[in-house]
Amino acid sequence: MPTVAFLGTGSMNGAIVSGLLASGFDPAQLRATVSSQASAQKLQASWGEGPQIFAQETQPEANQLAVTGADLVLLGVKPYAIVDLARQIAPHLGPQTLVVSVAAGIELKTLEAALPAGQPAVRCMPNTPSRVGKGVLAISLNAQVSPQQKQLVTQVLSSVGLVLEVAEEQMGAVTAVSGSGPAYAFLLAETMAAAGVKLGLDEETAQRLAAATVAGAGFLLDAQPDPAALRRAVTSPNGTTEAALKAYTEGGLYELTQAAMEACVARNEDMVREFSQQAK
Ligand SMILES: NC(=O)c1ccc[n+]([C@@H]2O[C@H](COP(=O)([O-])OP(=O)(O)OC[C@H]3O[C@@H](n4cnc5c(N)ncnc54)[C@H](OP(=O)(O)O)[C@@H]3O)[C@@H](O)[C@H]2O)c1
Repeated sequence: MPTVAFLGTGSMNGAIVSGLLASGFDPAQLRATVSSQASAQKLQASWGEGPQIFAQETQPEANQLAVTGADLVLLGVKPYAIVDLARQIAPHLGPQTLVVSVAAGIELKTLEAALPAGQPAVRCMPNTPSRVGKGVLAISLNAQVSPQQKQLVTQVLSSVGLVLEVAEEQMGAVTAVSGSGPAYAFLLAETMAAAGVKLGLDEETAQRLAAATVAGAGFLLDAQPDPAALRRAVTSPNGTTEAALKAYTEGGLYELTQAAMEACVARNEDMVREFSQQAK
C-alpha cells in the first residue's frame, strides 16, 4: 500500500485523512503534520494510534520527516504558505513522489517553481462538503504525472467526494462553481429563512425549514444530478412554485448569478497573480 503524507492537516487535509480512514486505508501508511502540538493531540484523539502525526512546534523537521519515502504528499497549508512549504520539503522528496496542492489560487507553475525540476505535481480545488464525504474535487495534472499516480491521487481524493479532471485554465471557473458554490447554497437558505420571517414565521422555525429544504434538495440532486429536470418535476403549471420561480427569473437571478461568479473569477485571478509573485 502506498505511503501518503499530509502536510498541514487542518480542515481540508484532515477531512481527506478521515475519509481515507473510513474507506479502510491502512492507517500505518498515513503521516500528518501540523504546526502546533495542541492540534497534533486533537488529531491523535480523533484518529487513534494509526497515522503518524508530527507537530512542527516540537519537531521542527516535521514536514521533512513526513515526506521522506512517501509516494504521495498533499500540501494543505494556507495558500500564502504553500511556496515556502514546497521549498522546505523539496530536497527530501523522491523523484517519483507525487505532490498535490489543495490550495486555492496556487497555479501548477507556481508549485513547480518551488519543487525540484520534473517533480510530478497536481493542483486540486476541493470544496467544503468534503468534510462529510460529499465534496467535489477538481484536479489538474502536470505532464510528469504517470497513469498509476493519477489513479492513486484519484483513489485518495475519492474518499471524500467526486473527483473530476479539468484543464488548468478552467480552475477559475471551477472555483466559481464548486469551490465557492457551497456558500451560495448557504446564502440561499439564509435568504429563504429571512423572507420566511417577513412572511410571519418565527426565526427558529424559518431557519430550520430553510436549512432542511436546501439540504433535502441537495440529497435529491445527489441521487439525480439534473437540476432542471428536478425543478420541472416539482413545478405544476400555474402553481405556487411556478409563481415563485417566475419572480426569481424576472428579478434577474440568471444575470445576478453570472455577475457573482464573474466576481469570483476576478478575485481568483488577483489571488493567482499575488501568489505567483511569491515564487519569484
Ligand atoms: N477548508 C476548505 O473548505 C477549503 C476549500 C478549498 C480549498 N482549501 C484549501 O486548503 C488549504 C488549507 O485550508 P484549511 O481550511 O484546511 O486550513 P486550516 O484548517 O487552517 O489548516 C491549516 C493547517 O496547516 C497547519 N500548518 C500551518 N503551517 C504549517 C507548517 N509549516 N507545517 C505543517 N503544518 C502547518 C496548521 O496547524 P495548526 O492547526 O497547528 O495551526 C493547520 O493544521 C488552503 O490552502 C485552502 O485554500 C480549503
